[in-house]
Amino acid sequence: MTIDKELENNIISAGQGHVLQYWNELDESSRKQLAGQLEKINFAELARLIPEYVTSRPKTVIPDDLAPAPYFPMTPETQEQKELYARAYERGIELLKAGKVCFLTVAGGQGTRLGFDGPKGTYPIGPVTGRTLFAYFAQNILRAGQKYQVKFSWYIMTSLLNNEATTRFFAENNYFGLDKEQVFFFTQGTMPAIGYDGKLLLGAKDSLSLSPDGHGGTLLALRKSGALKRMEDEGTNIISYFQVDNPLIKMTNPLFIGLHDLENAEMSAVMLAKTNAYEKLGNFCVSNGRLNIIEYSDLPKELAEKTDASGKLCYIAGSPAIHLISRDFIGRLTSGGELKLPWHRADKKIPFIDANGNPATPAEPNGVKLESFIFDALPLAGRTMVLECDRNEVFAPTKNPTGVDSVESCRAMLIERDAKRLEKAGVCVARKADGSVDALIEISPALILDEEDAAKYVKDNNITCVKAGETLVIG
Ligand code: UTP
Repeated sequence: MTIDKELENNIISAGQGHVLQYWNELDESSRKQLAGQLEKINFAELARLIPEYVTSRPKTVIPDDLAPAPYFPMTPETQEQKELYARAYERGIELLKAGKVCFLTVAGGQGTRLGFDGPKGTYPIGPVTGRTLFAYFAQNILRAGQKYQVKFSWYIMTSLLNNEATTRFFAENNYFGLDKEQVFFFTQGTMPAIGYDGKLLLGAKDSLSLSPDGHGGTLLALRKSGALKRMEDEGTNIISYFQVDNPLIKMTNPLFIGLHDLENAEMSAVMLAKTNAYEKLGNFCVSNGRLNIIEYSDLPKELAEKTDASGKLCYIAGSPAIHLISRDFIGRLTSGGELKLPWHRADKKIPFIDANGNPATPAEPNGVKLESFIFDALPLAGRTMVLECDRNEVFAPTKNPTGVDSVESCRAMLIERDAKRLEKAGVCVARKADGSVDALIEISPALILDEEDAAKYVKDNNITCVKAGETLVIG
């Protein structure tokens, strides 16, 4: 095959002619692959992005009117709020029972920090049995299905890099007991990596270096894949969105779902009180009447450290990336088959093919990956809602093998959450002097989804005590 003339002209006008450097050496299928990748790139757009995001560093402009975002507190503070929360809880249950809610896991990331060979969702996070992240979510959905008498749909976003491994994993595990039809995989878009000199990097002679286009890519991918249409057909209109590395997620949180609905929100968010001014969570802010998130690295020191009269951080509201998104909102945003969210630059060490055709692995960052972020949809929403939640009940991210936000901290939080549920149900659980649980506990969400389930299970199975050093696996 020969390269399409118009495409070739676009490539050359954008100063990217080097991507065809090895064209004459390639066989037919390699040419097809490279041409296919190049056809998907808007070279005029790329020529605009490179000076803005790659050869210079984009500056985040902090608006003059920036203020901390309002939010609903974890515990209602007034009688009016108490009544609203009670109504919202009931409404949430009603919506779950009516099958208006579906689940969405973003699992297209590369999980570089975890350094695990395979899709992150296949990581064995269970503290005792090594139950995988995907298994945790699937078991949640199974139990929620029994509880609310609904066959919930679960949408999973993969990337070109992990789609095959992910779908195979589900097939091998028999969809963890879910019906195959309940699970819908869709693949997000890619962006080409760009060297610091503004030139696209080749990952091989017949391939650009491509990576997933960020979790902001979810919105357009939902439309392009037909997922949005599928949701419309099945009648779901509230999408419960969470990240693949957070097995503590409370994906059927009736209060959150109910408030989202009663507030007529198009997009809602869970907020956590930050543990310190520089905790690595995005900050909920408002500007020009719109909710937005300023990344932790972009919030100026004087704002990050600002406190109120009581000494509490003014910008206390951190984002754990837990959202409810209305299907209609996504439909509106993507109606033209396009969605322009801002890009975010990440400096990375990107393996590439050098000018002599040899593979090179840089020791230092050599280029930029551009990603869009889901939270940039918040300011586009007509109405939004933010609810404070207890971190210990909703957020245990598995980003690193050890240390902060790690496999270790996640397992400890899973054990703590399950121990608390048992304790609330009257079980005595051995604890160390520092208050941490002195036992290994792992509970399948297929059996115990919430405190109500825990109380029943404990009673039915006559569990009274978890002794020091004991290992308890339920399910
Ligand atoms: P992170 O930003 O933590 O990235 O993604 P990551 O890929 O998991 O890990 P690192 O940064 O390479 O170590 C947060 C969530 O967004 C998803 C991830 O799968 C994770 O659930 N994500 C991220 C996507 O689905 N697509 C993307 O392009 C990026």
